[in-house]
Amino acid sequence: MCGIVGYVGNSSGRVNAGHNALDVVLEGLRRLEYRGYDSAGVAVVADGRISSRKKSGKLSNLLDELEGSPLPDSLTGIGHTRWATHGGPTDRNAHPHLADDGRLAVIHNGIIENFAELKQQLLAKGVVFASETDTEVAAALLGDIFRNQLKGNTADGGLAKAMQLACQRLQGAFTLLAVHADQPDVVVAARRNSPLVVGLGEGENFLGSDVSGFIDYTRKAIELGQDQIVTITAGSVEITDFFGAPAVGKEYTVDWDPASAEKGGFSSFMEKEIHDQPDAVAQTLLGRSDLNGRLTLDELRIDPQLLKKVDKIIVLACGTAAYAGLVAKYAIENWCRIPTEVELAHEFRYRDPIVDSNTLVVSISQSGETMDTLMAVRYAREQGAITVSICNTNGSTIPRESDAVLYTHAGPEIAVASTKAFLAQITAAYLLGLYLAQLRGNIFSGQIKDVLADLGKIPAKIQKILDSATELRELARSMKDEKSVLFLGRHVGFPVALEGALKLKEIAYLHAEGFAAGELKHGPIALIDEGQPVFVVVPSPRGRESLHSKVVSNIQEIRARGARTMVIAEEGDEAVRNYAEHVFYVPETPPLLMPLLTTVPLQIFACELAAAKGYDVDQPRNLAKSVTVE
Ligand code: G6P
Repeated sequence: MCGIVGYVGNSSGRVNAGHNALDVVLEGLRRLEYRGYDSAGVAVVADGRISSRKKSGKLSNLLDELEGSPLPDSLTGIGHTRWATHGGPTDRNAHPHLADDGRLAVIHNGIIENFAELKQQLLAKGVVFASETDTEVAAALLGDIFRNQLKGNTADGGLAKAMQLACQRLQGAFTLLAVHADQPDVVVAARRNSPLVVGLGEGENFLGSDVSGFIDYTRKAIELGQDQIVTITAGSVEITDFFGAPAVGKEYTVDWDPASAEKGGFSSFMEKEIHDQPDAVAQTLLGRSDLNGRLTLDELRIDPQLLKKVDKIIVLACGTAAYAGLVAKYAIENWCRIPTEVELAHEFRYRDPIVDSNTLVVSISQSGETMDTLMAVRYAREQGAITVSICNTNGSTIPRESDAVLYTHAGPEIAVASTKAFLAQITAAYLLGLYLAQLRGNIFSGQIKDVLADLGKIPAKIQKILDSATELRELARSMKDEKSVLFLGRHVGFPVALEGALKLKEIAYLHAEGFAAGELKHGPIALIDEGQPVFVVVPSPRGRESLHSKVVSNIQEIRARGARTMVIAEEGDEAVRNYAEHVFYVPETPPLLMPLLTTVPLQIFACELAAAKGYDVDQPRNLAKSVTVE
């Protein structure tokens, strides 16, 4: 939610052609655009003043603007791509916002909760506002402190000092970046509950909402803590808290290369990420078991005695990650016999949940920055729970604030609608469930070995689905004018149905709903009339026989009422052919692991249908990949 980039280059005064601040910032914004695309803007410091351009809509609009009205070469710059909160997605509300007579530029991610009160105080001082944003209030406050309280004195910290004083008065969640014409070689940033990382270059330093903001230039990064201020110059990085006390960040090296965040010949990131899935699952499994088929989750680093005492598991997540959590519930309860609840993170902490030191809270988040999930994890920790994060983003906030983390290794996920992270999250949740079962002696080691062997075969099976999707793609294209699609599933097929519907809503703006097939007769069947398309995720006939036959009965019930049925079934399930207009087979696999396969056709279907409608599948309207406000 909002992408932020900052850059300070070589202060020798010589602008290296590739490292003009504007080029660096625009490249960073291109990579961060998935975080929000309501507007984009940049500011550079050059010739003793700030020059800025901003434009509503996607980054390409800003690029067109810059073409007609270029900015001067510079060594210092900031850039922003916006997901609108306060104030509509207009040019005026786009960041950067200027203050101190245009000598200060500020960009922001988050929400300043006390902006109204601060605005009143600033209006009373005669400040004039040009936008409806909370960001402009923060900019004006910073400008006021710099000019009137510190008298523009740059000797004693200057902008960094002003940022400290401003942050002491700001409430809410924010990452702020500021540049000032009086301090041309400096970018100052502050962070509270919103993401920000530092990139360490040679003779240049960077700031970004995440490492993709500067991945083309360096893989060396620093994690910042909460309530910290960082001042970067070309040759230095200085971190303090909001009161000026020195602080230290944690240095790390990014383990993916920029090419993995490119489309690689596919027409969209989503298409590419769907095809990345065999690898995402394989990488997430890699190195997590020994030759004897024992799980070795060394990174969990939680006292095994504590884990043995766990009597309840609560899985917390939002969006697609919450559906991964639902799959996890079936597996964990089956293998560990520990009662497992799954809850949307934003619902959890407002209902006085029952949590104690025997509760294991497992959060699932691709970004590791989802504010609702972060707040729920914090709450759980305060209540004494053991917290484990399943996360795809190294060094992000949720794993840092959890007792332990199990990273998914899906690689960078750029498309807003999650695909490969979902399969990697399910894989990691299986590993966690098996690990707990191993630790607590719930199932025999041979059984764990067998499940691990079955998991090891999943990547090739996903590949097979990807390689044989021609008919599915044709069907998707032929359905581009449908008004509504329903999804039914049972057992682990239920979260898959929910995820199938969510994908279609997110990227094809199509009414879609997922239901538990057993719930059909309790309401949803009233939606069925002539021609209504329904996807049905059919359980394996090799699983509980009754489950398969019950879903087949459900198919008959809806067909009798005119539904057109598209069925996802296991290879060998010939019986189901008689009940479906279209059958898409997935390779045989143990029932609990099925979501790793049955999800894939639904992702392909949504992606193909949305593309056929001419939509931008990577950047669907109104959404942002990383929701860093509550
Ligand atoms: C947003 C994204 C979804 C994602 C959800 C949770 O809503 O659009 O794709 O599933 O956030 O994100 P997280 O990063 O916590 O997995």
